[in-house]
Amino acid sequence: MRLNNKIALITGGSQGIGRAIAVRFAAEGAKVAISGRGLEALKETAAYITEQGGQVLIFEGDVQYKDQVNQMVDSVINQWGRIDILVNNAGVNHTAAFLEITEEDWDWHMNINLKGTFLVSQRVSLEMVKQNQGGSIIQMSSVNGLAAEADQAHYNTTKGGINLLAMSMALELAHYNIRVNALCPGFIETRLTKPLIDNPPAITSYLQTIPMKRVGQPEDISAAALFMASDESSYMTGHCMVVDGGQIIKLS
Ligand SMILES: NC(=O)c1ccc[n+]([C@@H]2O[C@H](COP(=O)([O-])OP(=O)(O)OC[C@H]3O[C@@H](n4cnc5c(N)ncnc54)[C@H](O)[C@@H]3O)[C@@H](O)[C@H]2O)c1
Repeated sequence: MRLNNKIALITGGSQGIGRAIAVRFAAEGAKVAISGRGLEALKETAAYITEQGGQVLIFEGDVQYKDQVNQMVDSVINQWGRIDILVNNAGVNHTAAFLEITEEDWDWHMNINLKGTFLVSQRVSLEMVKQNQGGSIIQMSSVNGLAAEADQAHYNTTKGGINLLAMSMALELAHYNIRVNALCPGFIETRLTKPLIDNPPAITSYLQTIPMKRVGQPEDISAAALFMASDESSYMTGHCMVVDGGQIIKLS
């Protein structure tokens, strides 16, 4: 098992990509703390991980508020004593044309995707520095952080910011042996992408943009996250890893 005796915190771990990461990390021997909005989904994921023989802690909270972030990190430290792996996965996405994005919508994306990632990153990094045993931080970005998609200006901007945040943190935290990398998924089947997947003409046309001609699964992303979290990537930091079926390499 690749994460034996590790403690991992996964924000947005109740469903979708975050859930797949929590399930995979637990199967690899980590104790996993998962946070998110909505107690029911958190409890359902926790019950599944426990059934599989894993150890799990849940925390319902909102990553855009510093007091809730501090309570979340405190609860993991109080329960398990430290954090070795952080996955900043919590995120939101709402489609809107650039000319129609409201200030509220802009702030909503910035506060959850970008500020939330900063708040959790800084608090957990401070714990990792204190622990003096290094650590691995994975920032959930997107191919939208590397190239622009129409009707996603606010979302694209948060993910581009997350990539630079990962590089900036990697630079300053390397001498503590804290590695920070960004993971850039393409189109993955989750609640976020369900409306498009459930629309046959739209998804048939969208698949033409993906050289591998299939939608990605959350498990495609948890496999990459496992590599980034484990010692197998021990010399990798400040990197943005793309897992997208080849979507971003295509010019037309
Ligand atoms: N699905 C995709 O195609 C795709 C592609 C690239 C990147 N991503 C990124 O992956 C991450 C997960 O996406 P998903 O598709 O699994 O989404 P999802 O909607 O299925 O899950 C999102 C998770 O984040 C949590 N969350 C949302 N707002 C929160 C907040 N304010 N505070 C705390 N937790 C909050 C939710 O409770 C949930 O657990 C996001 O950062 C998303 O931008 C998704």
